[in-house]
Amino acid sequence: MREIHLEERPTSFKQMVGQKEACQQVGGLGKSEEGIPHTLLFTGPSGCGKTTLARIVRRKLKCADYDFKEVNAAKSRGIDMVRGLEGVVNLAPMAGPCRVWLIDECHQLTADAQGAFLKLLEEPPEHAYFMLATTRPEKLRRAIRTRCTEIKVRNLTEPELVGLVERIAEDRDNALDSVVSAKLGSVADGSARKALVLLQQILGMPDDEAKLTALENADAKATAIEIARAVMAGKPWSKVAPLIKACDEEPEGLRWMMQAYFTSVALGGGKQASRAVDILEEFADNYFDTKKAGLVASCYRACAL
Ligand SMILES: Nc1ncnc2c1ncn2[C@@H]1O[C@H](COP(=O)(O)OP(=O)(O)OP(=O)(O)O)[C@@H](O)[C@H]1O
Ligand SMILES: [Mg+2]
Repeated sequence: MREIHLEERPTSFKQMVGQKEACQQVGGLGKSEEGIPHTLLFTGPSGCGKTTLARIVRRKLKCADYDFKEVNAAKSRGIDMVRGLEGVVNLAPMAGPCRVWLIDECHQLTADAQGAFLKLLEEPPEHAYFMLATTRPEKLRRAIRTRCTEIKVRNLTEPELVGLVERIAEDRDNALDSVVSAKLGSVADGSARKALVLLQQILGMPDDEAKLTALENADAKATAIEIARAVMAGKPWSKVAPLIKACDEEPEGLRWMMQAYFTSVALGGGKQASRAVDILEEFADNYFDTKKAGLVASCYRACAL
């Protein structure tokens, strides 16, 4: 089976869950006299519809497959990518009315590449459209940001996520119990992609108890990794403490998962390996008696390393 989150990608505004403002904004641009701007920037959290919306706009523009290119700027970060674009941007479309480039993760472009790209955005030919997407717009050059019309997507609400997973499960003759879908909605942290990836993991499970356990484990693991990352990165205690405060996972379980994280950093052998080993020492003792206080103490000491 293809992955649910790819199979279920909306292809029209109507199919989009939530994102009413973003859809209205883009829809309005399409109806305006000037039409859809030649430079659009989709911003917002991961897995909420940036790439999806950009592809819907591409359909509205009636851009043919031949004339649509997706570039992953996390992989092609340098100036060569932009030079490549400069070489072809003036070529007329092969089939449809326009050519569209979707530059995903555009904040990853190097400073040089962003500089060159800015020139391209300043005067795109009439047939060319650039759609940029990023979770980190603050990392883009201001001039790029101001040159584009920004479309903001937001995290989905829990009811929106619940509605999404319930519909998809029903379509597959595998309706979810409402307790399970509610749990899924909360564990997905506002991300449609995360909700659908989790849905795929639990759909085949035999009973609701197994599904709930799997979702709880996924939740605990995500929390553990978030805290471990912050500690590993040497974030100050003032940044780490709120993460621990917000979490109500079982501390000893979290300790195992955080140990696993630091162990994998240590075994990775990079620059961080020796720090990871030092941190591991702070997580050596169990929390059976100390409970959450033990977790707080370990994290505090690790932050001070
Ligand atoms: N608003 C939405 N309504 C319904 N499904 C959605 C929505 N947003 C995302 N999805 C689902 O999540 C998947 C991932 O969405 P998309 O690729 O648009 O995320 P993104 O915002 O580009 O994330 P990233 O920042 O990680 O690139 C889609 O294929 C679709 O299945
Ligand atoms: Mg994307």
